[in-house]
Amino acid sequence: MTKKNRNELIKLYNHAVNMSRLSGDYIKQNINANLDIDFKGRADMVTQVDKKSEEIIRNKINEKYPDHQILAEESGNKNTDSKFKWIIDPLDGTTNFVHGYNFVSVSIALEYEGEIVLGIVNCPSEGELFTAIKNEGAYLNGKRIEVSEVASLENSLLATGFPYDLNDVFYKNMKLFQKFYESSQGVRRGGSAAMDLCYVACGRFDGFWEYDLNPWDIAAGSLIVREAGGKLSNNSGEKYSIYADPVIASNKHLSNSIEQVISDIS
Ligand code: IPD
Ligand code: CA
Ligand code: CA
Repeated sequence: MTKKNRNELIKLYNHAVNMSRLSGDYIKQNINANLDIDFKGRADMVTQVDKKSEEIIRNKINEKYPDHQILAEESGNKNTDSKFKWIIDPLDGTTNFVHGYNFVSVSIALEYEGEIVLGIVNCPSEGELFTAIKNEGAYLNGKRIEVSEVASLENSLLATGFPYDLNDVFYKNMKLFQKFYESSQGVRRGGSAAMDLCYVACGRFDGFWEYDLNPWDIAAGSLIVREAGGKLSNNSGEKYSIYADPVIASNKHLSNSIEQVISDIS
């Protein structure tokens, strides 16, 4: 990368961190606020805080980078000719937020020519900011993080999540949940995929898998895992993509074992 390109990337990074702090602070101020809840499905909710958080981020992108593309959960896509695409989940963990269980995050990633180059995940209730720039490592509140060294499933703590719809994928994942529970020290269902990935990146979890996620759930967290030395896979033998299913993230040692269990059940 040329010096000019790196300087540009750092400017974009600073802008992304700034946006994630603005929306994270907004979410924190609204913990315990009265929520207007709309239902996208039986248990799939959206609040005014999700929408306003996204507006804060979108406005900041549009002010500074009006030509950039945007892929965001609540207010849709902005398609342009730009090679830059911001991928945003303005509040990951809405069900948690609605119930005052504040394991929630803001997830902001930047894609350049189809590769994620920046990933920022802010968990305002914990005061934890996870960041990564492609090829420059992953950080938690400015300190370098790495995935765990746990080398067997029986010594691992894993995480997953379930789709909102009680569909075939949901029941398949229930079987996997049992299978992984039997072969590990535990499986957590945190309720924020972006945070689950960051917890793999900093070694709190040793592995994570989930079906039916959207790119905004995982774009930032995927880069953070990779930059922390972890491995990502869609269990297909193809190059990992945030647009493919399922997502498997782990420290390098557990990748094959997790893939094997998932292949056996699928
Ligand atoms: C959800 C969370 C959850 C995952 C769901 C996602 P949302 O995102 O990431 O952990 O299991 O599949 O949809 O709706 O809270 O932004
Ligand atoms: Ca989400
Ligand atoms: Ca969301």
